[in-house]
Amino acid sequence: MTDRVAAVTAAFEAAYGRLPTGVWSAPGRVNLIGEHTDYNNGYVLPFAINRRTWAAVGMREDRTVRLRSTFADGETTASLDALSPDAMGGWSAYVLGVAWAMADAGIDLGEASGLDILIDSDVPVGAGLSSSAALECAAGVAFTELWTLDLDKIALARIGRVAENKAVGAPTGLLDQAASMLGEEDHAVFLDCDTEAAHPVPLHLKQEGLAILVMNSNVEHEHATGGYGDRFASCANGAKALGVATLREIGADDLTRAEGALDEETYRRVRHVVTENQRVLDTVDTLAAAGPRAIGDLMNASQASMRDDFEITVPEIDLACDAAVLAGAVGARMTGGGFGGSSIALVPAEKAQEIASAVQGALSDAGLREPTIFTVAPSQGARRDR
Ligand code: GLA
Repeated sequence: MTDRVAAVTAAFEAAYGRLPTGVWSAPGRVNLIGEHTDYNNGYVLPFAINRRTWAAVGMREDRTVRLRSTFADGETTASLDALSPDAMGGWSAYVLGVAWAMADAGIDLGEASGLDILIDSDVPVGAGLSSSAALECAAGVAFTELWTLDLDKIALARIGRVAENKAVGAPTGLLDQAASMLGEEDHAVFLDCDTEAAHPVPLHLKQEGLAILVMNSNVEHEHATGGYGDRFASCANGAKALGVATLREIGADDLTRAEGALDEETYRRVRHVVTENQRVLDTVDTLAAAGPRAIGDLMNASQASMRDDFEITVPEIDLACDAAVLAGAVGARMTGGGFGGSSIALVPAEKAQEIASAVQGALSDAGLREPTIFTVAPSQGARRDR
């Protein structure tokens, strides 16, 4: 048992006066490449990170669910007989939303026992690292085992997404939950969001002497409101005007036709999705053929496309990426939904510190908010820890 698992076990015991039945956990994620492609049925290439959310859970003999955490005061109580997205709020909505989404998917929870739950996490909140998916997936694996449900990893990712869409109200795709469920050490997860076929892609970062820096802009983002939903709508409008169900059906060869058929802004949104899908495929091919040192140009092109065509970056992110590359990063790009959150830089491990300092300096010189910078490693997805 790691120290953290022992600590969450002890916190559960202190809160509920008995030992938990078990402890489960799931990680946050960064996306290596493939942004705003998931809800367009395209391709993504995220990896799970070594920052996790733990759920210590004990079975009860009634139908009550009690929730506590190490990061907020108080207790939330709900009944499995009265779960409704309208009655959920705050962080507990992600956990209760998973139980609701299971029932909504037709899973019979009529005999499911109530639960006492204690949540702990070291995934930063509001940093664009999918703390919400980590919570949903930790709850998902715990419920599946405790209620002996027949759900595989991708089915659980889908349930987490529904919880996010319906209980929390953000129109997001499958990226975050798929990464949190399917992650593997030193691998990225390639996911085709149309077929939902996924496979691990070896990264060989350590072997190649590389590291990934997360540069949290400390500019907070929110996906239930604002720009994310606007981009989602733009893509749907673009697809409709082009006579396709989703932008997945549009390729580079269709862009000339798209330019003639769409207004200038919608065209740029569509062009981002189309070129980003191709960059994901190219990244997978390049990793296999030439290794991670060769994917820098693709990362940088993705950053430029998010900045200029999709317009989801902020000045803090743009400058952090530029400064990282200038200081010797292999490549750098924003990761996640945008409008704040984090960017990532692929860096030679021995230059990580120097590059981080150069980025801090560049932001400070520009009078912009300084980022919080740390390294992450591709890690294992959701699992039982105890
Ligand atoms: C957020 C969403 C994901 C995905 C990304 C953008 O992280 O939760 O579903 O759309 O933004 O790639």
